[in-house]
Amino acid sequence: MDIELTAAAARHPAARPGMAPALKDLSLRVAAGEHVAVIGPSGAGKTTLLQLLACALPPASGQLRLAGQDPWALPRPALQRLRGRLFLAPQVPPLPPRQRVVTAVLAGQLPALGLLASVRSLFYPSDIPAAHAALDRFDLAEKIFERVDRLSGGERQRVGLARALVAPASLWLIDEPLSALDPTRSRQAVASLLGSARERDATLLATLHQVDVALAHFPRIVGLRDGELAFDLPASEVTQERLARLYAQHEHELLGAPPAALPPADASPQPVVMHCR
Ligand SMILES: Nc1ncnc2c1ncn2[C@@H]1O[C@H](COP(=O)(O)OP(=O)(O)OP(=O)(O)O)[C@@H](O)[C@H]1O
Ligand SMILES: [Mg+2]
Repeated sequence: MDIELTAAAARHPAARPGMAPALKDLSLRVAAGEHVAVIGPSGAGKTTLLQLLACALPPASGQLRLAGQDPWALPRPALQRLRGRLFLAPQVPPLPPRQRVVTAVLAGQLPALGLLASVRSLFYPSDIPAAHAALDRFDLAEKIFERVDRLSGGERQRVGLARALVAPASLWLIDEPLSALDPTRSRQAVASLLGSARERDATLLATLHQVDVALAHFPRIVGLRDGELAFDLPASEVTQERLARLYAQHEHELLGAPPAALPPADASPQPVVMHCR
């Protein structure tokens, strides 16, 4: 699915009046089947951009077109059908704790199922081979009948990614897929994600804090800062100078170190003062 975003601004409904919009005057063209990493410091607007593209948030101004259509001009049933072709993976996947992994993965198919089939799938997961194949891409096949609350944070995050592989979507919007993964798992997970997107001809946008992984795996890098486009370049043209400018005053994010304001890990804990009324 191709994306055309023209001079778009976005504002969260809960944002305080007078606050700058989370995205300002953002224009972006992504062709069907492209793979794009979105990087930038905390608060840059990366998640907001994915929400805008997922039709979870309407543009405050400017225009969005997905597959040539303005989603917000569509009648409700057509908007719902379009949303069924989008897959948004939030950073923390909303997995019910007592659910089995197989059910959690197959929940990715729900947008394509009718109401009855959806309810049946929740109680009697039928497409077990699809769930198994998706989990296998993330090295989790042996956990297929495990309960979600018995998984580690990184395993849960990979279950959330496996959902994309069973979803009937042609646009994958993946928010911070690697935040709970160690460096080796990060590289494996991103390679699986990109390989699977390629096999399905899906357009993929992923926000990433791991700049090295983004540059190594994604052909195109979009840098966001303060809700604006800082650059949109092939990975090979993203220089250290550009990164230093993108992360100025947020160097700890670029270097993967803790923020300077945090006390060192071995600092003695401060007493906690509690006030009782
Ligand atoms: N639900 C919300 N209500 C009000 N304001 C919000 C909401 N979510 C985000 N914002 C604001 O929008 C701006 C962009 O936030 P966003 O979450 O898109 O940043 P981000 O680049 O994804 O940051 P991070 O790397 O920390 O996830 C921030 O100023 C943030 O405070
Ligand atoms: Mg975010």
